[in-house]
Amino acid sequence: MKMVVTGASGLLGREAALSALRRGHQVVAIGGARDPVIPGVLKSVRMNLADAPAVTALMLEEFPEAVINCAALPTVDGCERDPEKARLLNTELPKQLAELAFHVGAKLVHVSTDMVFDGVDGRYGHTSTPRPLSVYGSTKAAGEVAVLRAGREHAAVIRTALLNGNSPGGDRSLHERLFLAWSNGEKTPLFTDEIRQPVGLSNLADALVEVCERNTLSGVYHWAGGDALSRHEIGARILRHFALDPSLITPAQSGAPASRSLRPRDLSLSLVPLAGKMKTPVQTFEEQLSELRVPRGREAWYESVTGRKVVRRLEKGLDF
Ligand SMILES: NC(=O)c1ccc[n+]([C@@H]2O[C@H](COP(=O)([O-])OP(=O)(O)OC[C@H]3O[C@@H](n4cnc5c(N)ncnc54)[C@H](OP(=O)(O)O)[C@@H]3O)[C@@H](O)[C@H]2O)c1
Repeated sequence: MKMVVTGASGLLGREAALSALRRGHQVVAIGGARDPVIPGVLKSVRMNLADAPAVTALMLEEFPEAVINCAALPTVDGCERDPEKARLLNTELPKQLAELAFHVGAKLVHVSTDMVFDGVDGRYGHTSTPRPLSVYGSTKAAGEVAVLRAGREHAAVIRTALLNGNSPGGDRSLHERLFLAWSNGEKTPLFTDEIRQPVGLSNLADALVEVCERNTLSGVYHWAGGDALSRHEIGARILRHFALDPSLITPAQSGAPASRSLRPRDLSLSLVPLAGKMKTPVQTFEEQLSELRVPRGREAWYESVTGRKVVRRLEKGLDF
């Protein structure tokens, strides 16, 4: 199948493109400010996806059979700082991609977020009503509505959670940011009262591609890991996995009342019904940990504090 993958220079889009290639698809990889560096793709393109005529030209020129949209302004702070950019990328872009996918007869798989919920109740189902607290959450929620309005039959919205994996630069994902702080001599306070359900990066990428391949899967679904954990427990398990000093993290309370914080308290997700329909298995947090590497640039620090040797492996065209 010919697939356009947007956000292919980012954390998730790169993995989605790699997964699509592994599964025998042809990939047109779209980056923004950065080049998507992915060996084996049909084409790598850098473009501004907020430029609507350019997006139309891309879709009509490529005429893909599927689109995986991983492009976004995906940070709470970034969206609060620039709500107009957030609207263009998180709402208008998915809307336009859904309309164009309908026009060319392609399947659209659009990535959304657990942050569309307010975190008051937790265990959100795919039919639970979004109540976003931030510009990020509300622009993503509006993007979901726009996608489904343009194509309920040929589009799937996959809400997902905190990404857990390895990034090429070694500085983007959950454990990599913790390693950066620890190697700079910082102890990290982590909330005991904020619940998240991390998802393995390559597992999520496989799930996105499988949803593309499956004609019967459309509508809103949830995909995450199998374990909902506090941020503090997540940090503690990462430390244990890498045999690092448990005192590198300290327990903290998020403090602000849930209704007045931009940080939802409990974003645990029910994976029903998607988990039952998929060949891709849901991963436990332990299974995700086994895929994590010591981040690039932190090897010397890690070896000095643990006495362990870091062995690099060539993986997915990169030396992790
Ligand atoms: N990260 C998480 O923990 C998490 C959790 C839940 C859901 N999600 C969702 O997962 C998706 C992917 O997130 P991510 O963490 O992989 O984000 P990321 O690493 O920041 O990647 C975002 C991608 O969007 C591209 N992009 C941004 N503005 C663009 C523009 N104007 N034109 C073209 N491309 C543009 C970026 O390209 P350049 O960098 O080349 O400009 C990059 O490839 C998002 O939909 C996000 O909401 C993420």
